[in-house]
Amino acid sequence: MKNLIFGIWFLLTAVVPAQVKTIGVTPVSPTSPETKESIIAQTSNIWDVFNHRRSVRKFKSDSIPETEIIKIIDAARMAPTSGNQQPWKFLVVRDRNKINQMKEACIKRVVGRYDKNTMKETKEQFEEKVRIRFGNYCSAPVYIIILTDNKSMYPDYNHWDGPMAAGYLMLAARALGYGTVFITDAIPESVTKEVFNIPDTYTRVCITPLGVPVEWPKSPEKKKLEDFILYEKF
Ligand SMILES: Cc1cc2nc3c(=O)[nH]c(=O)nc-3n(C[C@H](O)[C@H](O)[C@H](O)COP(=O)(O)O)c2cc1C
Repeated sequence: MKNLIFGIWFLLTAVVPAQVKTIGVTPVSPTSPETKESIIAQTSNIWDVFNHRRSVRKFKSDSIPETEIIKIIDAARMAPTSGNQQPWKFLVVRDRNKINQMKEACIKRVVGRYDKNTMKETKEQFEEKVRIRFGNYCSAPVYIIILTDNKSMYPDYNHWDGPMAAGYLMLAARALGYGTVFITDAIPESVTKEVFNIPDTYTRVCITPLGVPVEWPKSPEKKKLEDFILYEKF
């Protein structure tokens, strides 16, 4: 998380101002409900991007122009890395058959654990709930799998470098009006590796959907600023 905060600071000073210049927009106050256009109009205020990025878990099917996918990954690759090693690959997935294959593998895995479920519901009810959950997770038009190369120059540092890029990517996506979510356990590494034939020489950092949210979620409760800050001594 410390790395993520550092990454955000870097984005503030380097990446987004350049992006905003390209978009050439005027600041406006946040509107509700938010549209892609209203969000892009806010990106000239970097603080809006930080404050309004949210984890999104249900998407519209609207396609995303290739240029915007590239722009988002281009921002992610500007993240700092140990010794500038840049150990990433960004696997972009748009193939609906593959996305469905991933969804079904996740559903099968969770439904297979029905016996460990403590809720008083039938297997059919449980499966229905799981199907809705993964139907939402897998409703985006694009998925980006962020990977680090185990054979990079400094592989011991990959676990810092990976999330740095993810943080940048998620903020860049928000700046263009797209939702993301840093998915780990919900769609396990083993499932993505199998479905997308990812070699064992790569470690998955996370998978994120990329798409226009059905709605932008409200912020979950965040701790107070003063809970985090220490001055001079612990
Ligand atoms: C390391 C990490 C792992 C996460 N894993 C998942 C996950 O498996 N599934 C999921 O839906 N969200 C996952 N999230 C997203 C968090 O639930 C989310 O960031 C948190 O609830 C705060 O919400 P916000 O991102 O909207 O501020 C993960 C986030 C992080 C940083």
